[in-house]
Amino acid sequence: MSHQAAMPLSATRGQPLTGRVRVPGDKSISHRALLLGLLARGETRISGLLEGEDVLATAAACRALGAEVTQDGPGAWRVFGVGVGALAEPREVLDFGNAGTGSRLMMGVVAGHGVTVTFDGDASLRKRPMRRVLDPLLKMGAEIVSESEGGRLPLVLRGNGDPLPIVYETPVPSAQVKSAVLFAGLNAAGRTTVVEREATRDHTERMLAHFGARIFVEPEGEHGRRITLEGRPNLKGREVEVPADPSSAAFPLVAALLVPGSDILIEGVMLNPSRTGLIKTLREMGASIEVAETRGHGGEEVADLRVRASVLHGVDVPAERAPSMIDEYPVLAVAAAFAKGETRMRGLAELRVKESDRLAAVTAGLAANGVDHRVEGDDLIVRGGRVRGGGTVETHLDHRIAMSFLCMGLASDEPVTVDDATMIATSFPDFVPLMTRLGASLKA
Ligand code: S3P
Repeated sequence: MSHQAAMPLSATRGQPLTGRVRVPGDKSISHRALLLGLLARGETRISGLLEGEDVLATAAACRALGAEVTQDGPGAWRVFGVGVGALAEPREVLDFGNAGTGSRLMMGVVAGHGVTVTFDGDASLRKRPMRRVLDPLLKMGAEIVSESEGGRLPLVLRGNGDPLPIVYETPVPSAQVKSAVLFAGLNAAGRTTVVEREATRDHTERMLAHFGARIFVEPEGEHGRRITLEGRPNLKGREVEVPADPSSAAFPLVAALLVPGSDILIEGVMLNPSRTGLIKTLREMGASIEVAETRGHGGEEVADLRVRASVLHGVDVPAERAPSMIDEYPVLAVAAAFAKGETRMRGLAELRVKESDRLAAVTAGLAANGVDHRVEGDDLIVRGGRVRGGGTVETHLDHRIAMSFLCMGLASDEPVTVDDATMIATSFPDFVPLMTRLGASLKA
């Protein structure tokens, strides 16, 4: 996937945001639905799939490994899977574009099968650490044929058709690492166990159970979990309804809080407890977020969120909350820039290895727009109030940096420009029209 020419975009303060919107399907669940569709026998029907570039790259990779993947309509996809143990060896390089999740979860799938696969991605993905995923996969019997410096892409992974079931304690709180090990364990003769000290998003566990795997989850210590999967299940194609992505909802949500007079409704947002840290934190800051019409949707709880402009104040965000809002810190930092007093976001080490070094990208963006802030160890401290704006923010191929700072520009004194908005298509292809419908002023 080659990167198109950069497209700068500016956000300007204007009228209140009003109206009702639905954000696209959850990215984490969309990747997993395709991968489990590949690993199940028979037909998996998916509705509400996120059709962002990241997920489309995973769909292409599933095809290359033997699945038939077809689109029936907007968000409606069908996957005819091959079953655990029956992947085809792809002839082409699997290019995951910008997608850390797609590439790392697929490394797990490949590691547990007797195929050799070349993984690649864009300039952002080529910078991201893969050792955290490869280390446990090597213990399970996979081999690295070649890799780029520091265990980075492009790399060639040779899987093992008879992987060893292991017990693995993840050294970093990462749903991607946990999921890769579980996916490799699917083809192991025995039980694979992952222990995490801090619980991370549990979509893989839920979806494995939905497709017919035997998987057991027990609490571990104060904040952790022990997950055990029985290998070689007979996964059968299923229906998957993908709920709206709370990490995408975060952008109209924060924008509506910041733009005076705003009152919006975001429909059907997934409220899985492993993903709701931002809503909790914003409420502590004084945000008016009403949760209505709570209902079940594809095995997840969803609700409509009514969000009204609010006067925010700074809070202390504990480190143990980080896994439940790991992708939301850039937009929380923007909210904090408008909040009265100091917001301290603790324990952000993992932000350094996202689509960009998000700690560096956020602090540079805050500095460019006159926001008082500092970094102490792994904590980011923002002193908020009025935001001058007027800066140009470097997005470093990171969709969430682009969307976060565009939200800033909707409420700052001067417009905020992002150097490149093209990456927004990786997770939220209709961000600009959706925000414009709410009343936002976004211009090239
Ligand atoms: C994801 C896990 C998180 C998150 C990413 C999606 C997933 O990454 O940042 O956007 O779907 O498992 P880590 O596992 O690296 O924390």
